[in-house]
Amino acid sequence: METVLSGIRPTGNLHLGNYFGALRNFIKMQNEYNCYFFIADYHSLTTHPNPKDLHGNVRQVLAEYLAAGLDPEKATLYIQSDVPETAELYLFLNMNAYMGELERCTSFKDKIRQQPENINAGLLTYPTLMAADILIHRAAKVPVGKDQEQHLEMTRTFGNRFNRMYGVDYFPEPQAFNFGEQLVKVPGLNGAGKMGKSEGEGNAIYLADDAASIRKKVMKAKTDAGPTEPNQTKSEEIKNLFSLMKIVSTPDTVQHFDDLYNSCAIRYGDMKKQLAEDMIAFVAPFSERIKEISADEAYLQRAARLGAEKARESARKTVRDVREIIGFKAF
Ligand code: TYM
Repeated sequence: METVLSGIRPTGNLHLGNYFGALRNFIKMQNEYNCYFFIADYHSLTTHPNPKDLHGNVRQVLAEYLAAGLDPEKATLYIQSDVPETAELYLFLNMNAYMGELERCTSFKDKIRQQPENINAGLLTYPTLMAADILIHRAAKVPVGKDQEQHLEMTRTFGNRFNRMYGVDYFPEPQAFNFGEQLVKVPGLNGAGKMGKSEGEGNAIYLADDAASIRKKVMKAKTDAGPTEPNQTKSEEIKNLFSLMKIVSTPDTVQHFDDLYNSCAIRYGDMKKQLAEDMIAFVAPFSERIKEISADEAYLQRAARLGAEKARESARKTVRDVREIIGFKAF
């Protein structure tokens, strides 16, 4: 059975971008593939989280994964730092990763702009840690949003380079994967191209959001002055609203507002009201489940321990093989 793996950094609550980019299809995949899903807490250290917040954030994402439908019996759901073998593979991969290629990585360039006061080596080698995450279970398919495509490309480069260097055919070539669908990029509400935790106030709708905060954020979403001629090309802000509507509303609803737009009769306030109500209906079952699961300490503990055990077994095997390939021998 093919191995599928994906991860999320614990830097806040899960939003609709995470859900549609990485989670939604993963939940279907757990019935057909050998699945690993993890909480990337090593990765989150690049932004120097407060130790008190770190555990709370990991716990929150664990609860949200489970609330979104991940079944810890079917899939392996684990916390990255519970599998220190990942750090060993990261060390090995760093030896064959070149400064030039790491510096050219788009996410590194973005981070330099976002946190000029903290350009640490962890940021530079983020792609090798991500490659270690994927290669440690020799995963073939990686459910991610469009923003992670370059990291997948680099993972293939590092895996292939290792294979070539040691004359083995050990690591597979992992591909970004969305269960037969195109990779997605869910836009934000404040005109930002992408829904994200660090894209500014009001940009993201979280699975844990209540109705009032969804209404408030959607009603504040950026729009334009409205179409002045039939079938006018949509501005970025309006395209974003329609993209969001496509993921939570029925096709009839989308068509209705599209027709109104094309005949210049659209009232953005009405469209936003409808979008807010459809988002509320979509998110409601998740936010309920998140509350229930967050209160169930025993369940969270069981899930995390089971995941750590299963993930370590697979990781230990890979690191044992890799040590042998590299030429480390026990005396
Ligand atoms: P992160 O934590 O930023 O996001 C987690 C997942 O959600 C997807 N995503 C989106 N998809 C569509 N539209 C959006 N607006 C949107 N925002 C986020 C991301 O593509 C991602 O799939 N580096 C990764 C975490 C990671 C990882 C891995 C993923 C670490 N190791 C190994 C896969 C495999 C990250 O920062 O994702």
